Amino acid sequence: MKGFLHFATLALVALLLAIREKTAAGSSTPAAVNASRMASADQEPGNWMSYGRTYSEQHFSPLNLIDDQNVSRLKLAWYYDLDTHRGQEATPLVIDGVMYFTSAWSKVFALNAATGKLLWAYDPQVPGEWAINACCDVVNRGVAAWDGNIFFGTLDGRLIALDAATGKKIWQTLTIDGNSRYTITGAPRVAQGKVIIGNGGAEFGVRGYVSAYDAATGKLIWRFYTVPADPSKPFESPAMAKAAKTWSGKWWTLGGGGTVWNALAYDPDLDLLYIGTGNGTTWSEKYRSPEGGDNLFTCSIVALKLSTGEYVWHYQQNPDDEWDFDSDEDMILADLKIDGRTRKVLMQAPKNGFFYVLDRATGGLISAKPYTFVNWATDIDMKTGRPIEAAAARYAGADPQVVVPGPLGAHSWHPMSYSPLTGLAYIPVNDSGFAYKAEENFEARNLAGNFGVDVVAAGMPQDPKVKKSILDSIKGKLVAWDPIQQKQVWAIDRPGPWNGGVLSTAGNLVFEGTASGNFEAYRASTGEKLWSAPAQTGVMAGPVTYTVNGEQYVAVLAGWGGVFPLATGEVSFKSGRVRNISRMLVYKLNGKAALPVLPEIEAPVLRPPASTATTEDIKHGEATYQRFCSTCHGDVAVSGGVIPDLRYSSALSTDQLFSSIVLGGLLRKEGMVSFARELSADDVKSVRSYVIFRANQSKESATQASSKK
Ligand code: HEC
Repeated sequence: MKGFLHFATLALVALLLAIREKTAAGSSTPAAVNASRMASADQEPGNWMSYGRTYSEQHFSPLNLIDDQNVSRLKLAWYYDLDTHRGQEATPLVIDGVMYFTSAWSKVFALNAATGKLLWAYDPQVPGEWAINACCDVVNRGVAAWDGNIFFGTLDGRLIALDAATGKKIWQTLTIDGNSRYTITGAPRVAQGKVIIGNGGAEFGVRGYVSAYDAATGKLIWRFYTVPADPSKPFESPAMAKAAKTWSGKWWTLGGGGTVWNALAYDPDLDLLYIGTGNGTTWSEKYRSPEGGDNLFTCSIVALKLSTGEYVWHYQQNPDDEWDFDSDEDMILADLKIDGRTRKVLMQAPKNGFFYVLDRATGGLISAKPYTFVNWATDIDMKTGRPIEAAAARYAGADPQVVVPGPLGAHSWHPMSYSPLTGLAYIPVNDSGFAYKAEENFEARNLAGNFGVDVVAAGMPQDPKVKKSILDSIKGKLVAWDPIQQKQVWAIDRPGPWNGGVLSTAGNLVFEGTASGNFEAYRASTGEKLWSAPAQTGVMAGPVTYTVNGEQYVAVLAGWGGVFPLATGEVSFKSGRVRNISRMLVYKLNGKAALPVLPEIEAPVLRPPASTATTEDIKHGEATYQRFCSTCHGDVAVSGGVIPDLRYSSALSTDQLFSSIVLGGLLRKEGMVSFARELSADDVKSVRSYVIFRANQSKESATQASSKK
């Protein structure tokens, strides 16, 4: 076990560093993060100053006061309940005893990291209506810190700087065209005094880009577009001229996509900024780029010069992607010894299920292997770097093709972690597929996702046997992956996907929250389960660890949501029914706090009106529902518990009430817009008929199931 010596040495180093931290910190300005502090972030392991802790984005902490020997004594130190009930995806920062994080609706909180006492809160007042532009819930993944300010993006596209001491606004910049359907959910990064931020919206007809703003003033310094616009107009950069040769048709009329909605990484030595880009609009190439082409720079990792935003290299993981396999998942930088040579690598486990190791100076592919089951490709061609696609992966035909993984991704935004001590990457893996079929008569829609795939054909079949076999195949796991050997070292099976981000520590520990509502610790070297605490809700976000006054804490933002419980319907109950409670949970050895005692979750009872509509009416309602409603209220009218399940809604009682919400916009401030511009009164009547039909169908199958028992 090579690990042993390492851990012993590291224990000493960490102790020394903990002593130094006490004397060195002492800065009186809160969040006074700068280039030299970031460069020597390992000298102050008690702080977590950037999304992935350091610029290497490893989500690894050198702290080891909590370790695999004493973690059983880890208890709740404090918790802080939030005022929203939507998805919580933020990784908190902790700087000199203060914790900063975002919650749903892009709100920001600063708490005393030792006690949980609120220091300040900031609400950017995101209009509820903007929620319709978010593919994947009104989430936010966190803040950045620099020179005494806290930076974050808002769902409606603003970048805001707050005074870290008071929470007062310093500046605000609109980073998007307010008439387009952009959203910001990702955490910014700051380097060399530049705040870097991207955005999302590739399903909603936007053109992807990443921007750098002056941290002091909020002024735009540069912008890099990821996909070309109308080629009859001048290109913004030589990179766009090159990219335009890889598209066909009139892609720009649909925006193009390729959004930079999550992953960013920066290497100060190479002065390179790495961005991950998303899928194109539409998913299906039939409407996006009908004569083929690689569609650069979608589904790619692109390296830019941080000083100018100029293109340096790219590596495209999925040329001409058709599966929503974007490359926006976390990128981790490390120095790895491969074939006797130390290589500066970039590691990523993107949605497509392959683990990539790239040379981050050149973009050259070092290795790539599947980290879980995939059926869309057999391998990656090491000469060209292109995937060797399976014949059945493309879906030009009339029948849906089941491709694994699907749009959920074998791994999504949930931070993975890399421990330089074990040499392992820890990946929260989803195992699920999707039935892809190109939509027959695609038309760009305003208030719906422009997928270009048949969302009715992709819906969960109601034949009990078929449904069971699909549900049985959908799972999750925590995988410990050796990036040099490209093989799994250990794995923990989970009943379903969408478990939390991962933290690894020098205490030989790996922490992960689960979709079933626990927060757990494993021995990093072996995967032995060492500790678990009930979170009372599903946990998606990435944990962090820090010290205050020499005492180590572990924190995770709990709260269920995101695209999985919103869109996937019955699949989202694979890990059981969880409550939806949004709160910060913080643990330490021998902590004394306790969560409130809650009653058992009661299964809701269906009491729908009788289903009297014609088959034709219900069919039309199904198509309308799947296109316009399923992304929030769930596939085939089964909601994952974050947004109301319409089958149970009292709004079903009359057409008038239903329509006052769906057309009248009664709940617009709560994120339920009016669909009056998109849907007719008859369309909405049909949607109601369909939901009533589904409610009665569900009630029947529940009765049958219970009479069998
Ligand atoms: C962008 C997400 C989103 C989409 C898309 C969406 N809804 Fe909603 N809907 C919501 C939210 C959020 C609420 C809860 C609002 C609240 O808190 O009162 C809601 C509430 C409702 C309600 C009230 C339910 C109740 O019992 O309180 C109805 C009815 C409804 N939606 C119908 C629809 C229909 C029909 C569609 C498609 C045409 C649709 N919604 C599309 C987000 C969405």
